[in-house]
Amino acid sequence: FQVDWDMEQAEKNGYDHFMLKEIFEQPHGLKKTMTGRLNEETKLVEFEELNWTKEQMNNWDKISIVACGTAYHAGLIGKHVIEELTRIPVEVEVASEFRYRNPIINERTLVIVVSQSGETADTLAALRQSQHMGANVLAITNVVGSSIAREADEVILTMAGPEIAVASTKAYTTQVLSFYLLGIYLSQSKDRLSEDYKDQLIEGIAAIPEQIEEILEHSKGIRWYAESIKDASSVFFLGRGVDHAVSLEGSLKLKEISYIHSEAYPAGELKHGTLALIEEGTPIVSLMTQESVSEKMLGNIKEVKARGAQVLGIAIEGDMKIWDYVDETCFIPNTLSILTPLLTVIPLQLIAYYTSLALGNDVDKPRNLAKSVTVE
Ligand code: G6P
Repeated sequence: FQVDWDMEQAEKNGYDHFMLKEIFEQPHGLKKTMTGRLNEETKLVEFEELNWTKEQMNNWDKISIVACGTAYHAGLIGKHVIEELTRIPVEVEVASEFRYRNPIINERTLVIVVSQSGETADTLAALRQSQHMGANVLAITNVVGSSIAREADEVILTMAGPEIAVASTKAYTTQVLSFYLLGIYLSQSKDRLSEDYKDQLIEGIAAIPEQIEEILEHSKGIRWYAESIKDASSVFFLGRGVDHAVSLEGSLKLKEISYIHSEAYPAGELKHGTLALIEEGTPIVSLMTQESVSEKMLGNIKEVKARGAQVLGIAIEGDMKIWDYVDETCFIPNTLSILTPLLTVIPLQLIAYYTSLALGNDVDKPRNLAKSVTVE
């Protein structure tokens, strides 16, 4: 008598791939990451694990975010969020560039390293270099006891749980969430947000897990769309502001597991290059959630449509004006403009997943890539 017990199958918990399982685990991972930190009663963010004094926090004149891959993309959202909420200037740089130039870092800089594994060689080197130059280093990481967690001065643990698929999903959303929480936390020490806005932020963040559930429940149309682009030679992602930052992650996901060439472009840069590549039928995923630039985005859509592009518009539900401009639509639930990345990234992850699936690729273990890059 032999029990044929496939461990991997059991770990996938009924899902076909770890990536899909991890996409669906995001509401849970986000809830765990906000637990004990986002206080809905007092409308405050608390970080018991952080040991900074108010004086120390008010002394920083610059924040430098350093990371690789998807974690770097989370940092790009972090820049928007921290600058908006605290008005402290924020730079974001990939660790392999940061470590080989002469960055301007000193005692008045807060360096934030972001790493799912906590073991990425370049990120660890950037951490050490920053400490050497006198900066305080905060790590946002998913792995307790990892090298980065051990060596950083302060640590915010993301509570995504183990991530197995090479293409990162739940680590990204919990990293982005950590930036919202950190942004609010730092703004509290400066007392600079209006009570009303802060309340809206806290309520908005608390609602995100359920809103993601909603997107996941209605993801059939996304699968259909993904199957329709599987034979494309290039896919472009357009957006402005945080929509652009999240597009970079959507483009990376698609590239990593479908092997389709893709690029994310700030929509205003179209005229400076990408427009030359648009042909009849070129798929474009256009993120259009930012009210302040919506007219500009519609203008950009007209430009690509005039050249024959097939456009999927991702917008906030109720935004009916986009119907006249795009070929397909995907709506996300309503939230504050600054919080949309946590929702818009979900359809982008699903597009990458279903495209890869339709092509018969090894979704969880894409060719040439590793989950953790511990050597240069
Ligand atoms: C590799 C992984 C990516 C990850 C990057 C940074 O490229 O495939 O998913 O974003 O490393 O990894 P880290 O563990 O530092 O977040």
